Order: sequence, then C-alpha cells, then structure tokens
Amino acid sequence: MNHFERKRGEMVCEGVPLRRIADAVGTPVYVYSHTTLAHHYSAFDRAFSGIPHIICYSMKANPNGSVIRTFTNLGSGVDIVSGGELSRALAAGAPPSKIVYSGVGKMEWEIVEALRQGILMFNVESRQELETIDGIARKMRKKAPISLRVNPDVDPRTHPYISTGLKKNKFGIHIDQAVRDYEWAARRRHIEVIGVDCHIGSQLTEISPFLDAAGRVRVLVDRLIRKGLDIRFVDIGGGLGITYENEVPPDPQQYADGIVDAFRGLPVTIVLEPGRVLVGNAGVLLTRVLYTKPSQETDGKAKKKQFFIVDAAMNDLARPSLYGSYHAIVPVAGSSRRRVVADVVGPICESGDFLAKDRELPALTGGDLVAVMSAGGYGFSMSSTYNSRPRAAEVMVSGSRFEVVRERESIRDLTRGERTASFLTRRRGKA
Ligand code: LLP
Repeated sequence: MNHFERKRGEMVCEGVPLRRIADAVGTPVYVYSHTTLAHHYSAFDRAFSGIPHIICYSMKANPNGSVIRTFTNLGSGVDIVSGGELSRALAAGAPPSKIVYSGVGKMEWEIVEALRQGILMFNVESRQELETIDGIARKMRKKAPISLRVNPDVDPRTHPYISTGLKKNKFGIHIDQAVRDYEWAARRRHIEVIGVDCHIGSQLTEISPFLDAAGRVRVLVDRLIRKGLDIRFVDIGGGLGITYENEVPPDPQQYADGIVDAFRGLPVTIVLEPGRVLVGNAGVLLTRVLYTKPSQETDGKAKKKQFFIVDAAMNDLARPSLYGSYHAIVPVAGSSRRRVVADVVGPICESGDFLAKDRELPALTGGDLVAVMSAGGYGFSMSSTYNSRPRAAEVMVSGSRFEVVRERESIRDLTRGERTASFLTRRRGKA
C-alpha cells in the first residue's frame, strides 16, 4: 500500500496535493511519502518477528539521508556497496554494528574505512578479496568479520541486467567451491568467519527462486557448522519485487515464512537487505508537460500517435530506457479526457530518452503536471547530469507537511571541480 491517491480529482501524497509541491519547488521533483516508507519497513520487520533478524536497508535503491534516517529511526541497519554509501549511512544514524558491506570490487581505502568503523561484516565475493581484507586487517591489527557471498546458481527469472545469482554472473563465489574458501578463511589470523551471504537478483515476483537459493544456502550452512565454523549470521540479500503494472509479487509475510522455514532450527540471526520493496512505491517523480506534438506513426486504429514532451528525462529516471521498465504515468489533476496513444519523452537528445512508450493516456496539454509512479527506488539514485541537466530536487511528505530533503542542483553544481587546462587559456605568442 502507499499514500499517493486521488482525492476530489487531484493526486495527493498523504495530506499534500502534488500540485502544491510542484508550484513551490518546481519540476522535475521526486516526492517521497514518509508514512509509506515507515509502513513498508514495519510490515517487513513484523513479518520476521518470529526469528532473530536484522534488516539492513539496501541504500543503493534510495540513498537520500532522510530516507535512510526514516529506517534507522525504526531500528534498521544498512547494506552498503561503497565507501560513499558507508559515509552516508553513518551520517544518517546507522549503527556500524548493523552495516553489511557487499560488492565485487571493494577498494583498499573503502575496506580500511569499514574496518575502522567496525561494521557488522564484509560480504566477500572472491578469494582475492579475502586475501586483501586479511592483509589490510593485519596492518590495522584488527580482525575482519566476514561472510562469503555464495552464488547458488538459481535463476531469479527477472531482467537479465538485475539477475545476480547465476553461474555466469560476476557475483559471489560458486557455492560448490565455498567450503574450500571458508576453510582457508578460517585459518587466517585477521579474519573472523561469522556468516554466509547470498543475493540472487532484484524485482523477483515469484517466491520459488528465493526458496531454492535458501535451500542451497541451508545445506552449506549445515556443512560449515559441522566443520566447526561459528556461523552466526545468514544474509539472504534483497530482491523482493513490487507492483509496477500488474505484477503480483509475494507479500513480505509469505516471503518471510519461506525464509524462516528454510533456516528453522539453526542458531543464527537472519540478515535481510531489502531495497526496492521498502522505497519503490513510496515515491513518485513529478514532471510537467512542456509540449505535445503528433507523431508520424499511427496507433492500432489509424489515429496519429502523440509525443508528450515532459521536463523529466532519462537522466532523471533511467529505468524505462535502461531496462524497458514500466512506470505508470498519471495526470495530477484528473479530469475525464479523451484517451490517446502516446510516447512520454524527455528533452534529451536521443531516441532512447522516454518514460513511456505506446502508452494509452489521457490527452495531455502543455503545462499539465503528471506523476511517474513507483519511482522511489532506483530513481534519483541512478540519475545523472547527462545533457548538463541539473539533478532534480527531492521532497519528503509527512501528513500535511512537506520539506525539501535535497535541493535541486544548480548550474554551478554542474561544473564544480572542473578546471580549464592551463594550456588552453595561455596566450599564444605571435606567429
Ligand atoms: N543486496 C545486494 C547485494 C544487491 O546487489 C541489491 C541490489 C540489493 C540487496 C537490493 O535489492 P532490491 O531489494 O532492491 O531488489 N537498478 C535496478 C536494480 C539493481 C539492483 C542491484 N542490487 C533497477 O532499477 O531495477
């Protein structure tokens, strides 16, 4: 459930009309509902209440400090993948004891910083990374808590770019080789083996791949415990999908029941790394129609298709261009207008710049505001300044209040840190 709805014909977020936000802050702007975020977190947390667990919000989905803070205020930890994320997580109140660090390419300075902060564990993705962490921990006279991210070779049946648990993917250590690496790790003086980790992909709409993966991880955990390793944490990653169009993903309780069942009887704490399921439907991207024009193409009924050119583009929301993802688009002021087939496109200079293609929509006109739905996850976090477009503002709503939680970037921000090479401005001598 979420708190974006139509009231008396107008889209509101909680108690605030979206039009008011657009008028005050301008467009494009991301709008997040604090109540929805908190509600999603609590539902997820409650689903696992029967077993010891730690929720580590996967902040790559939405790293805005106020979003992270919403979850840390409710007891959440954070799943990070970079030194930048570590710093932002700590600034947003995440206790280091609830931070897990995943990713195939951790750099030396990032490992040093995570060790210095005393995070819960490194989810290690290769033997070489293990060796590097061991070496750094030795120099720092510390013991690095680790789990190995195992790749269970399970097909998550999602978009190929966001599948991670297949043999051919770059992630993790193949589950069949993991015991060997665990035994090696257990002999290192500066490594403390504490867990097993696995993440198979994102936007999963079926439960069976999760259960297959959990079953395989369980077999491994049993083996490791029999070998005398002190496995205290099983991190099952993230990946639970949401409804963008008409997908019917498992609900958190169903997902939790499956996971709890798979690890029943083990003396471990389950670590979860949900991203999208907490934030996806808690945010929208508000954008204004700039122009409309007829396309040279016709729709199925020989009527001309339309282009709706809006002020948000692929640099603001990359998902449609990158994955062909569907995001519902709704007019903020709803009136019963005739429907047309249109491409909703941005101002960027490539044909891949679209938010919707061949979409049946109410006939829009210049100045209309529209909300691009389900944009709270992997929306702003994947945005860029392509075409020198300053990144959008972000707003958080709570009840009848709203606040800017990140200012729109300015033109000056675009060139921050940039310098003109001196040899380009030196005056040339006379010829
Ligand atoms: N844990 C790990 C190790 C991950 O790699 C990810 C996501 C998550 C947790 C969180 O997954 P979630 O619960 O959000 O599905 N940009 C893509 C999604 C990329 C997901 C990358 N990893 C998109 O817009 O669909």
